[in-house]
Amino acid sequence: MNVIGRVPWEKTLDSSLALWMEGYEFIQNRCRKYQSDIFITRLLGEKVICITGEEASKLFYDNQKFTRKGAAPKRIQKTLFGKNGVQALDGNGHKHRKAMFMSIMTPYNIKRLEVITNKYWEISAKEWEGKNAIKRMAFFNPNQIVLFDEVQKIMCKIACEWAGVPLSKSETGRRAADLGKLVDGFGGIGLRYYEGCHARMRTEKWIRDIITKIRHEKIPETKNTAAYAIAWHRNLKGKLLSTQVAAVELINIIRPIVAIATYITFGAVAMYEHPESRIKLARDENNYALNFVQEIRRYYPFTPFVGARVRNDFVWNCCLFKKNTLVLLDVYGIDHDSRIWKKPYSFHPERFHNWNSNPYGFIPQGGGDYYEGHRCPGEMVTIEIMKESLKYLAAKINYTVPRQNLTYRLCRIPTLPRSRFIMKKVKAGIR
Ligand code: HEM
Repeated sequence: MNVIGRVPWEKTLDSSLALWMEGYEFIQNRCRKYQSDIFITRLLGEKVICITGEEASKLFYDNQKFTRKGAAPKRIQKTLFGKNGVQALDGNGHKHRKAMFMSIMTPYNIKRLEVITNKYWEISAKEWEGKNAIKRMAFFNPNQIVLFDEVQKIMCKIACEWAGVPLSKSETGRRAADLGKLVDGFGGIGLRYYEGCHARMRTEKWIRDIITKIRHEKIPETKNTAAYAIAWHRNLKGKLLSTQVAAVELINIIRPIVAIATYITFGAVAMYEHPESRIKLARDENNYALNFVQEIRRYYPFTPFVGARVRNDFVWNCCLFKKNTLVLLDVYGIDHDSRIWKKPYSFHPERFHNWNSNPYGFIPQGGGDYYEGHRCPGEMVTIEIMKESLKYLAAKINYTVPRQNLTYRLCRIPTLPRSRFIMKKVKAGIR
């Protein structure tokens, strides 16, 4: 280790392999080793500053200091984000586009999710009971279902209905799988990454056609939906978005809703490992469901870190942040920081009972302000869908959990329980 001022600098040629091997713990491991909230390293040949802790989070969400232009690597644009979406915008252009996203998140639209979510869970629960069979495991165990795979399809139906994207029964499976691959592909190499790239091409083509049809008024009943807002959104010069960019932004709505399947699968694991939580969820007294959802988002790994580039030179913690340097904020580490969270590695939904709503210490979907910064505009959507889904699973579905491997690897980004949560003897109805 070299130290410049007091800033640890990893003395390796490049840490990309270490990042690939350590995943979510990469930043934490080094901060612990150097006893520092900041260190410098090299990733893919580039100098990168990694930061953690609440103060780092406040710094990172200061728009005067950072820009997102050029921060997302090509591999993320080709899978997760797409090109020229809101994530890469800056200044007034970003504020204007972000206001469009936030205009979709009205109390009316969030409330609509409650009804839609319950509707699709009910349909699926009945189907599972009827079929008692799932393809993935069907050959060996015809009466099992793999929750993650099923929930991706449920989320795809919810996303499309809510966002105003027509989806036929026959295409649900492949659209859900493609949207899932966009998320799974960004952290992979080889096949996983290429599948993510191809899934993006197919999904963008599908959604470009939808945007064109909305603009030619060939899809009725889209008013008040995300698809409508995006198709007719005008930029600061008063021009409609190109069909391609509008498709990228509409995918920015439906893809992350499908990604909520990951949190719901972790929620099922938490209910299984803490059986008392399932009873409390079903009763939902004193905001228990909300606290449970918050703890799922805090405790389980999803976003490992977020990146931005230094706008202009400044000094923080004895470190010179030089213009254009890439900086990574340790999302997973901050959500497990013992200076912010008591016993961060215990699962304890009640910790959110009197939580102070600190926007920099709890950042599973980014921090700071929704309108001014890049914080996730879909946080309310995520919370609402998770609450309704997990309450449904706790209260209205009977199932048993056979022996399986529920562990998850912190070196895999994004990660999931290895077995994806297998359920047996599924029966719909009040528990
Ligand atoms: C699985 C649940 C989700 C997770 C873990 C998640 C996570 C995140 C994170 C970490 C960011 C970046 C924050 C930053 O750069 O500082 C983000 C941004 C974003 N998210 Fe989410 N998100 C989720 C669900 C959603 C949903 C449901 C929607 C839309 C309905 C959504 C739409 C977006 C958009 C459009 C951005 C870009 C915002 C901007 O650049 O200003 N996300 N999300």
